[in-house]
Amino acid sequence: MPSVSMTVNGKAVSGEVEGRTLLSQFLRDDLHLTGTHIGCDTSQCGACVVHVDGKAVKACTMLAAEAEGTEVRTIEGMANADGSLGVIQQAFQDHHGLQCGFCTPGMVMSAADLLAQNKSPTEAEIREYLEGNICRCTGYHNIVKSIQAAAEQLA
Ligand code: FES
Ligand code: FES
Repeated sequence: MPSVSMTVNGKAVSGEVEGRTLLSQFLRDDLHLTGTHIGCDTSQCGACVVHVDGKAVKACTMLAAEAEGTEVRTIEGMANADGSLGVIQQAFQDHHGLQCGFCTPGMVMSAADLLAQNKSPTEAEIREYLEGNICRCTGYHNIVKSIQAAAEQLA
């Protein structure tokens, strides 16, 4: 099987993958980074969002082989160095931006990408940006509030 190498959360990793192995499968099954969730077979739910070279990507839409040589960041890489929750994660906790939590890793990764591009997004911009992330629990209100709170803190 061909081998693939990349940096994940600042650490060099490599593995042998089949050509059809998705990045989401490589992260979960080979690297055991199970914070990247898989919520659909149709690339719609956004639970699998990670950053590849600084941009949000649905990890189920990319082959592991395509990530060769890239820098990948997953939800596990969003915590502070001491293991405490990062700013966006903490904001989700403080503002009740989750219920079951299944969508949350993808929401946090998408929010981080949005805030990297737009430091003070409007509510409408947040809602539009989250179009690719589906939450079946929260009604989105507290997710939006969480991202607004994180934006204020990061400003
Ligand atoms: S698992 Fe990737 S979008 Fe649903
Ligand atoms: S918190 Fe349950 S799917 Fe979003």
